[in-house]
Amino acid sequence: MLITFEGIDGSGKSTQISLLKEKLTELGHRVEVFREPGGTDVSEMIRGMLLNPELEISPVTELLLFSSARSQLIAEKVRPLLKEGVIVILDRFYDSTVAYQGFGRQSMPLEQIHQINAAATQNLVPDYTFYLRLSLDEASERTKHFEKDRMERAGDTFYTRVFKGFEHLAKTEPRFKTINAERDKQSIHKDIFNILESKL
Ligand code: ADP
Ligand code: TYD
Repeated sequence: MLITFEGIDGSGKSTQISLLKEKLTELGHRVEVFREPGGTDVSEMIRGMLLNPELEISPVTELLLFSSARSQLIAEKVRPLLKEGVIVILDRFYDSTVAYQGFGRQSMPLEQIHQINAAATQNLVPDYTFYLRLSLDEASERTKHFEKDRMERAGDTFYTRVFKGFEHLAKTEPRFKTINAERDKQSIHKDIFNILESKL
């Protein structure tokens, strides 16, 4: 089973992923978690480039680098683990490319981005995608003391477009499960686990 988490920076993805991993492990499941971009040596090196505030990266290059990091992760780690019956949880997946590069940067037409996403993953589709829906104001309040990476320096207009991108996906992708992320950590966790429980 492939489960992905999406949402703007600071929406609580890492927090919820670690609660979910703990719960599923307790129940006896094998669980592996990867963050995007990252998860393999090659993908972590690409992540270093993508998040480095000293680098200027063109919008199309950025999109292709995120996709390259993903392609390596899927081929090297995710596909083999899914074959072994492991539950794989991804902290972001190609929906982030639609929201950040498609809506945020407006790098390419969405149709082209969907094709690149399919090519990079050889048509892998998550079983569940949890969209942690949080306002931009609350997310920036939660992360105001964090150091900003290259993406996070893109500014408010960019993030407003990214937010709209996730909202668009939530409306158009049936696999998206929208979770109200404004609440306390345990209530959010319970909602997520309730959706999964009967499918395990
Ligand atoms: P993301 O992985 O989406 O960037 P994190 O899980 O790292 O988000 O959370 C960002 C910050 O918000 C962290 O300091 C985290 O402890 C805090 N946080 C996470 N979930 C909640 C919540 N439900 N309520 C309040 N603060 C939260
Ligand atoms: P990260 O620190 O992992 O995210 P978060 O702040 O949510 O914990 O940083 C990854 C950054 O890369 C984040 O700003 C979102 C962005 N990103 C894209 O722009 N496109 C993508 O396809 C992916 C996977 C991430």
